[in-house]
Amino acid sequence: MMTFGDKRLHIQEVSTRDGFQIEPQFIPTDDKVALIDALSRAGLAKIEVTSFSSPRAIPALADAEQVMQRIARVPGVEYSALVPNVRGCARALQADVDEINVVMSASESHNRANLRMDCEQSLTGIREIAALARGRVHLNVSISTAFGCPFEGDIDSARVMDLIERFRQIGIKRISLCDTTGVANPAQVHRLCGKALAACPDIAFTAHFHDTRAMGLANALAALDAGIVRFDASLGGLGGCPFAPGASGNVCTEDMVHMFNAMGYKTGVDLQRLLELARSLPALVGHDVPGQVMKAGPSSRRYPLQEPQLGSGLVCEPAASVEQAPDSRVAQSSRS
Ligand code: COA
Ligand code: ZN
Repeated sequence: MMTFGDKRLHIQEVSTRDGFQIEPQFIPTDDKVALIDALSRAGLAKIEVTSFSSPRAIPALADAEQVMQRIARVPGVEYSALVPNVRGCARALQADVDEINVVMSASESHNRANLRMDCEQSLTGIREIAALARGRVHLNVSISTAFGCPFEGDIDSARVMDLIERFRQIGIKRISLCDTTGVANPAQVHRLCGKALAACPDIAFTAHFHDTRAMGLANALAALDAGIVRFDASLGGLGGCPFAPGASGNVCTEDMVHMFNAMGYKTGVDLQRLLELARSLPALVGHDVPGQVMKAGPSSRRYPLQEPQLGSGLVCEPAASVEQAPDSRVAQSSRS
């Protein structure tokens, strides 16, 4: 049974990493820094700033060092960076991140496509990274394709639980369960998150969903109901792994915050500020973005009621188009 409004939820922004990594146009470093600085003042718990991947693999984030160096850090916000391997860990430590987010996949095929390593090689790297990070920075492990793989299909939850146990033995305290290509459904999410939390109550789990099949927010609610309180999300709904065919945007941060706020949860996030930033995204990335509340406005939005005028056709017209919802008629009449 779902409970409402009794928890503090942590919203973790990933647009400048998961979002920008798949953008075909390089976003200028100045613009990245300006966006991160603005996000820093929006009340987000954590910002995944960039990734220390090979610049040949992810040219969009080739300026990781410069971005980390130039952002104005706000106390209370954690600044994280994704790393694929030990080399990336060394770069991230040098750049003085608060958290290293090392990624590996539950599926062999996606691990090879994304990282050019098999899973055992990734695990060896993660042990080395844990030793390097210990006592210096927080370490999170992101399990990609935890709910399904674009190459292999279903992923047995026992495989994910086995990885979680192996990470726990290495001393990892933070784990993200990632639905890389948006194949998870709420029942599956509830089961896996519930199992993970029951097995490892000492680990801080994050839910990381992509909205590729419009199940992102439903999955977030299912994860919340299972006890998850940390959620990754991306401004405007940008995002996707370039090495996962069919990948598309993360759940949209401002849509998620809007939903949680409306349900009475505390997120600490300034929705208005997020909406302003989201509306600036299409000009930044050069295309429309999936976010919905940025277009519709929050559910508290009110339209001025205009009395229909005789002869205007609004009330008298007998054959209004069947496609036109009553709401859109009100919206149109209020704008005219
Ligand atoms: N940062 C910078 N350069 C790196 C690097 C890192 N983290 N890891 C490897 N490299 C460089 C090597 O120094 C080498 O450079 P050189 O050709 O100039 O000598 C080159 O990349 C190849 O190194 P190699 O060890 O053979 O790695 P690879 O080519 O098999 O690449 C990855 C492996 C993991 C580094 C690369 O595939 C990668 O960065 N993938 C991106 C993963 C990612 O971010 N996915 C999206 C998020 S889910
Ligand atoms: Zn992702």
